[in-house]
Amino acid sequence: MSAVVVVGTQWGDEGKGKIIDLLSAQADMVVRYQGGNNAGHTVKVDDEEFKLHLIPSGILSDSTVCVIGNGVVVDPGVLISEMDSLADRGISTDRLQVSDKAHVIMPYHKALDKLQEESKGDRKIGTTGRGIGPCYTDKISRYGIRMADLVDSRSLSARLDLVLPYVNGLIEGVYGQTGFTKDQIVAEMAPQADRLRSFVTDTSVLVNDAIDAGQKVLFEGAQGTLLDVDHGTYPFVTSSSPTAGGACTGTGVGPTKISKVIGVAKAYTTRVGAGPFPTELNNEIGDWIREKGKEFGTTTGRPRRCGWLDAVVLRYSARVNGLTGLALMHLDTLSGLDQVQICTAYEVDGKRVENFPGDIQVLSQCRPVYETLEGWSGDLSKARSLEDLPENARKYIDRVSEIVGVPVCIVSVGGRRSETIITEEPF
Ligand code: IMO
Ligand code: MG
Repeated sequence: MSAVVVVGTQWGDEGKGKIIDLLSAQADMVVRYQGGNNAGHTVKVDDEEFKLHLIPSGILSDSTVCVIGNGVVVDPGVLISEMDSLADRGISTDRLQVSDKAHVIMPYHKALDKLQEESKGDRKIGTTGRGIGPCYTDKISRYGIRMADLVDSRSLSARLDLVLPYVNGLIEGVYGQTGFTKDQIVAEMAPQADRLRSFVTDTSVLVNDAIDAGQKVLFEGAQGTLLDVDHGTYPFVTSSSPTAGGACTGTGVGPTKISKVIGVAKAYTTRVGAGPFPTELNNEIGDWIREKGKEFGTTTGRPRRCGWLDAVVLRYSARVNGLTGLALMHLDTLSGLDQVQICTAYEVDGKRVENFPGDIQVLSQCRPVYETLEGWSGDLSKARSLEDLPENARKYIDRVSEIVGVPVCIVSVGGRRSETIITEEPF
């Protein structure tokens, strides 16, 4: 049985796209299980760069079937333009399937995302503005519109009759803005529905059949553990479940069918948007990492906040995801520093804290306790085995693995597919 979940262990942007792309070469199917086009996965194939937001990164491998599971929220316009831009570059999207149960990001979700953020003033979350939170809100409050409704004009019409008075009540009553009419929405979405109809199906059947037939199935997490609506730094989180359990609820696959969970972690830490970040470096080292690691958002272009590796975060991720392996990314970015630091615990009010706190009030008072290691230098991009790395880089990897309690199975030493060290085959 080979069903492998790939999850982000930090605040997103860990390099999941590269890992998925790499493993897709061996996978028969790649499945996204949560999030939407708030994700931004950059994949470098030879010297070509692809930025994907919604379609699984597996689409870049010739024969891999790509599935958008029920846990994903789908903006139909974004999906179509992503399909078109892949087609323009010679990549077929015929192998794409979308769950009939996936919820649709409606035009009013995007409007509400902006209105809610504006109304929060300096307490805003710093969302990507893609309508993610309002779409998941409607899903849970049972005002959602699913792909099955979108592609059936009678169902869409009936759902809008129920939903629009509620939505417009919010937009007009709470925010004092003009609401949406059914005609306006149908005019925009009917052509999108026509285009997408043939891709919509019961994807739980497809994924389970593939696993039962012994095929290799990869579950592609978006965002990261600390952005999880339950396990993340609430309320500075996204509205879905990026953690490994989300792969089951977000696809209709039982937990007994998952064989491995690989956690993707940068060799340092980044965060976009607001919220506490204990190892953040507001100094020249933070700036150096941002420039060298090209730490600017794929989705919004925002500069990412940068800091040292936080092993308290990684231990927490190992626990809530049941990690079986770690993929350590951007090791090359740290090359050139005299010393590197790993946060091994926090300190609050003179007390040592080993477990990641659930309360962000406590987290924002946490001061990192660091262990300092000797740095390394030089170009790592040619390394294809651990032996090819400078000794201090190897010591860093070993120490991370030891503190986190999870073996490192992949080390990334550059942006390209080939610039990777694999120490244990994931499938
Ligand atoms: P990938 O898949 C990093 C952050 C936003 C914001 C919070 C809520 O590329 O790792 P949302 O629009 O989801 O309601 O915003 O979550 N965020 C991400 N940060 N990488 C991502 O995805 C993110 N997706 C959402 O910046 O703080
Ligand atoms: Mg991103």
